[in-house]
Amino acid sequence: MTGRPSLVQINGRKLRNQMLLTLRCLVLVAVLWGLTACGTATLQASTEYQTVTPSADGIGRVYLGREIAQTMGHQGAGWLDRPSRVLQERPQVAIAALDLSPTDIVADVGVGTGYFARRIAPLVPQGKVLAVDIQPEMLAMLQAEEAKGIENVEPILGQPNNPNLPPTSIDLALMVDAYHEFANPREVMEGVVTALKPGGRVVLAEYKAENPMVMIKRLHKMSVAQVRREMAAVGLNWVKTDDRLPEQHLLFFQKPA
Ligand SMILES: C[S@@+](CC[C@H](N)C(=O)[O-])C[C@H]1O[C@@H](n2cnc3c(N)ncnc32)[C@H](O)[C@@H]1O
Repeated sequence: MTGRPSLVQINGRKLRNQMLLTLRCLVLVAVLWGLTACGTATLQASTEYQTVTPSADGIGRVYLGREIAQTMGHQGAGWLDRPSRVLQERPQVAIAALDLSPTDIVADVGVGTGYFARRIAPLVPQGKVLAVDIQPEMLAMLQAEEAKGIENVEPILGQPNNPNLPPTSIDLALMVDAYHEFANPREVMEGVVTALKPGGRVVLAEYKAENPMVMIKRLHKMSVAQVRREMAAVGLNWVKTDDRLPEQHLLFFQKPA
């Protein structure tokens, strides 16, 4: 029984060896593919925020190619309420462009001392303004102003990664000269999107990065392309860009209905 193997036995063994080799190759390819996929996923998540040497006006944290600006401290709050702002930035034009309804619930995220919240509140008499900021000192200044007679502004202390807004509660989120300094822009915007009602709107006013004549620190300005990139990243649809203001872009977005 142990004589020389027949031709059939030799071919059978060759076939089995070839099948085993093919199987091993398939397993190897599958393992390599799996490893590559995992690696890519990790890389994408970890490249969302990158760390760099901080610029003079930056925090050394990069989001979608943009270094995030330093937060304006409450010590500089007087600048927000400077009388020259009316002529310089034309806030009344910006507010008219919002096309508010009297029942609107508006979140002013990065409200500061409430320069915009105080002017918007009378336009939403059956609604209200949710005034969000991470600096309690800013909210204290807002409340001191509010005490002069405005009743439908509700202060909310946010966190750097959470605006602390109730879900599906707001018609409009407004961010004036603020978004560029959110240390966790993606997380804050995810919170804003969750807080928006379906079809709700987001409006950003950002100093024009494309215009060197706008005398604002580099990282406190944003280009239209960059704002659109960052809003698209959280699923918001661009509606229009209004460039009537002298210094800021007004960008309008909408949450899908
Ligand atoms: C330059 S001020 C603008 C204030 C106001 N929007 C205005 O135009 O007068 C930016 C404000 O954004 C606030 N801010 C920064 N990061 C924030 C965050 N993650 N969530 C909410 N507010 C934030 C700052 O505390 C500051 O009051």
